[in-house]
Amino acid sequence: MVYIGIDIGTSGTKTLAVKPDGTILATAIEEYPCYSPKPLWSEQNPDDWWNATVKTVRKTVEKAGLKPSDVKGIGLSGQMHGSVFLNKNNNVVRPAILWNDQRTVAECNEIENAVGGRSKLIQLVANPALTGFTAPKILWLRNNEPQNFEKVCKILLPKDEIRRQLTGEYATEVSDASGMLLLDVAKRQWSKPLLDALHLDINLFGKVHESEDITGKLTKEAADLLGLTTNCIVVGGAGDCAAGAVGTGIVSSGLLSTSIGTSGVVFVHSDEVRIDPLGRLHTFCHAVRGKWHQMGVTLSSGGSLQWFRNQFCETLVQKANEKGIDVYQLLNEEAAQVPVGSEGLFFLPYLSGERTPHADPNARGCFIGLNLQHTRKHFIRSIMEGVAYSLNDSFKIVTEELEVPVEQIRATGGGARSPLWRQIQSDVFNRKVATVNSEEGPAFGVALLAMVSGGEYSGIAEACKAVIRAVDETEPNAENAAVYRNGMEVYQSLYRSLKDDFSAIAKQVRS
Ligand code: XUL
Repeated sequence: MVYIGIDIGTSGTKTLAVKPDGTILATAIEEYPCYSPKPLWSEQNPDDWWNATVKTVRKTVEKAGLKPSDVKGIGLSGQMHGSVFLNKNNNVVRPAILWNDQRTVAECNEIENAVGGRSKLIQLVANPALTGFTAPKILWLRNNEPQNFEKVCKILLPKDEIRRQLTGEYATEVSDASGMLLLDVAKRQWSKPLLDALHLDINLFGKVHESEDITGKLTKEAADLLGLTTNCIVVGGAGDCAAGAVGTGIVSSGLLSTSIGTSGVVFVHSDEVRIDPLGRLHTFCHAVRGKWHQMGVTLSSGGSLQWFRNQFCETLVQKANEKGIDVYQLLNEEAAQVPVGSEGLFFLPYLSGERTPHADPNARGCFIGLNLQHTRKHFIRSIMEGVAYSLNDSFKIVTEELEVPVEQIRATGGGARSPLWRQIQSDVFNRKVATVNSEEGPAFGVALLAMVSGGEYSGIAEACKAVIRAVDETEPNAENAAVYRNGMEVYQSLYRSLKDDFSAIAKQVRS
């Protein structure tokens, strides 16, 4: 039997086919654009996700040489928090508003006021209102596009919209639903008191499942389109952070992962609901039945390097194309030529504002400390270092403030493929950083969840134990760690110094 994992990411959809022993048979990726019609807006067209899903599943099945009946189950993962607003005919009323969109500052205040303040909100849904979460986006639609809001019959997350197209079901699962800010995270069900306070009808939302549960089977139409059968089950799956963590084996206490994708995530498993009293870390349900996790999010992590590549590295892109290699290999080679600490150049990765630890939509990206000696190579290395400092902000909250014991750090995401970036992470955390045998991330994690529902394993922890293991460890270098210890102090102090200026800049841009 074979299982398929699909990850509806921000830069593209990735699909893979995997055997129960963890062997990847084939993968396919299809990219699509992200639109920013106004500063700080971030939107996508859900049709692009669906077309990419159909294409990548067909390609994967074909590449792996599978018969339709070989595929027993599908797991879904996707970018979290995005809002898909559907009318009564299941058509979108407007493009989906994404996780890194920052338009909802007023609505975040509205939500806290509606329930009597921030701590009351945290009691209800375990988290404060943050601009990227889904509930403020719903209120934004009601406040700013009432003609669209009136037409809305269902509100789904990105991967759950794909589930609807696959199975005809309106459903979600606990890990992704946690990021809507409408879930009672402790009880793993919609928060009726919050929905009532916000005057939102519970029927607007899908049924909440555990991540391993079967949420439906492929419809005849979807099975024909994908080249599969109507016996193929679709399981709950998980938001990409929890799915990525499952795919890295973060399913028990003592394990922490760092992920560098478009966003950056520091993720730690938790056997109970543990809340950061200052609301800097998110407390969400895990994809492990009856467990939770905490995570800190850097909004522009690998996305910062991608932005720099797109804007300033045309010659490197050309060179890479000529040589038939990945341009990131050249970026890494350039960064490796620069001394640790980038000779005083710092990068603050706040290109889309920031979540952890600042929760500040007005924060902005900066290069600071420039001198005439600096070259493009310094910029590249300082981006890698700035992202690692930002992950360290979350890591320090977990390990030093909340004193969560961490026995092993596992690096994952595209950024973990770079030995240099792994070394920088290890030196900045001053801890060993491991990688695991599977590099496939969220799509792999949800394929494992599908295997559990398909009867291959008794639970997700057993599945991870059978197929995932740490393969390689990067050790911190004491001299580098000392440079980064000082660097971290400068990095943290820069935000404090610039906070008011960031607000002034935001005001100027709005006026
Ligand atoms: C998590 C978050 C991002 C997206 C990116 O809270 O907003 O990691 O899920 O895909």
